[in-house]
Amino acid sequence: MSHRNIYFQHNTVTNHRMMESFKKKIAVLGGGVTGLATVAILKEENCFEPVCFEKTSNYGGTWCYREETEEGVGSIMPTTYLNHSKEMGALSNFPPPKECNNFMRHQELYQHATEYLKKNDVFRHVRYNTEVLNVKKSPDYDETGRWVVTVKDRITNEITTDVYDGVLVCTGHMNRPIMPTYPGQEQFKGKILHSHSLKQVSPYQGKNIVVVGMGCSGLDAAVETSNVAKQVYLSTRSGAHIISRLGYRGLPYDHLLIRRYLYSLDPSLNDHIGSKLMSGHVIMKPNVKCFTEDGVIFEGDSEVTQVDSVIMATGYTWAFPFLEEGILEQENGRINLYKCMYPPELPHGTLGFIGFIIPVGPGFPTGEIQCRWAVQVLAGKCKLPSKAKMYADIKKRYETNIKRYKPNDKMSIRVDYTQYCDDLASQFGAKPNFLKLFFTDLPLFTKLIFGPILSYQYRLQGPHAWEGAREAIMTSEDRMLFPLTKRKADKRRDNIFEILFQRIIKFFGIL
Ligand SMILES: Cc1cc2nc3c(=O)[nH]c(=O)nc-3n(C[C@H](O)[C@H](O)[C@H](O)COP(=O)(O)OP(=O)(O)OC[C@H]3O[C@@H](n4cnc5c(N)ncnc54)[C@H](O)[C@@H]3O)c2cc1C
Ligand SMILES: NC(=O)c1ccc[n+]([C@@H]2O[C@H](COP(=O)([O-])OP(=O)(O)OC[C@H]3O[C@@H](n4cnc5c(N)ncnc54)[C@H](OP(=O)(O)O)[C@@H]3O)[C@@H](O)[C@H]2O)c1
Repeated sequence: MSHRNIYFQHNTVTNHRMMESFKKKIAVLGGGVTGLATVAILKEENCFEPVCFEKTSNYGGTWCYREETEEGVGSIMPTTYLNHSKEMGALSNFPPPKECNNFMRHQELYQHATEYLKKNDVFRHVRYNTEVLNVKKSPDYDETGRWVVTVKDRITNEITTDVYDGVLVCTGHMNRPIMPTYPGQEQFKGKILHSHSLKQVSPYQGKNIVVVGMGCSGLDAAVETSNVAKQVYLSTRSGAHIISRLGYRGLPYDHLLIRRYLYSLDPSLNDHIGSKLMSGHVIMKPNVKCFTEDGVIFEGDSEVTQVDSVIMATGYTWAFPFLEEGILEQENGRINLYKCMYPPELPHGTLGFIGFIIPVGPGFPTGEIQCRWAVQVLAGKCKLPSKAKMYADIKKRYETNIKRYKPNDKMSIRVDYTQYCDDLASQFGAKPNFLKLFFTDLPLFTKLIFGPILSYQYRLQGPHAWEGAREAIMTSEDRMLFPLTKRKADKRRDNIFEILFQRIIKFFGIL
């Protein structure tokens, strides 16, 4: 190698190091799907150096299947599969291959996510076995907006502290079980566990079981255990609307239902509960009134129902124990977070929550659009509104939700998928310009207005627009139909609005 080459290489390395030192250091808390996608999106901007702290020894959070459960780490069953379809749940610049199943099992999702993370060179930013213990404002916070983050190496127990220009909290909120208690519970001789810890169903062979709760976990627990149990009772205090993943003409339900002109649904999903109820494998019961030594008494019953085990599929509460007091406030049951992301009392947009949200729709694209906006805020390209405007927005969401559902702190973070994604995308210029598309690209316009809300549409324009976005939208149905037909889809025309619209356009000779 010539001296000139050595000099050139040395200079390139030095320049690279200088560039790195000018980059803003961002702490990403949690190495689940949200945290790792956050790293990938921070890297797009090329002015950040993300450091992702993950307290376990592996990546993927909830979707990294583990036999052992830990409080604060999401958990699934060996049989869990996604409740949104692959196209609806796709990240905006990473369509799933046509060969993927429409509702991916957890292993398939993990593989698919791994490919995305490899492609974006995410893994080198992750520090495993590193638990975030404390996040507080730096002494110069008022001027700089910086944060002091303290972490513990769970292998060596070493504790270290560092200063970051920004913090994105991605530690999940479906990992701290709610365990209700009932009168007489202490005398019950059987077993009580939360669905968070439910893995294998073999311990329930030939047993009588009560499953409490009718969310997706309760329905899964009832269906799975009823394959081996003597009898399963499904107890609910307020019931649920249940729909199957299988929609009209064998298509995924969400591909048909999550559209601009339809109102959001909030059902529980299960594909097998109907036949389990019709055959008596599972029997519906009201809320548990009390426990006895060998069973439970349901509300309205006078007799004891003998049971061996109770599975509490009663959902999750949330906590961010590492946050300095006063950052995340609750007021009259409401969680004060602007757009479910920003504490309004903070004068800088340098700390945001990603994925602390309950979308009535797929979770991954919602987390992704939050992150894309947060990155623009961190880069100083988007500004947050005044404190008063933030509080007004928070109150409006909460009040609308408690009227529509019921009072509960999580109503502060429940959002309608389409409205929310459109809202966030418009904060940073990624919402499609429908008017322009009407005049320039009518086939695409038609898909966007009448078709499903695919995340690719938020990459048509704005920061880090993706040149493959249009193609991904136009070919989404082919990828969705491939696992069913194993061939290229025929052109399907079953959307009455789309057909009508195309006829009108043809009539006027525009198309
Ligand atoms: C059984 C089940 C099924 C689900 N199915 C779906 C579905 O089909 N579709 C959907 O959209 N959503 C589903 N969800 C919601 C699920 O929460 C999201 O899919 C997704 O996993 C959220 O990812 P996340 O990275 O935000 O959180 P998590 O997956 O919970 O990951 C958080 C990560 O942060 C780490 N962490 C936590 N605290 C610390 C700390 N102090 N320091 C360092 N690291 C920390 C954890 O170890 C974990 O790796 C399901 C949830 C459950 C429980
Ligand atoms: N991909 C999948 O297949 C899959 C599987 C499991 C879970 N998930 C997801 O994981 C998340 C969590 O789901 P989840 O089912 O665990 O929780 P969830 O949706 O919060 O449902 C909790 C259930 O428990 C009931 N409940 C809560 N507290 C109760 C109490 N004290 N007494 C009686 N009933 C009580 C609730 O009833 P009320 O309605 O009366 O409050 C509700 O039916 C959801 O986003 C879900 O979609 C997905």
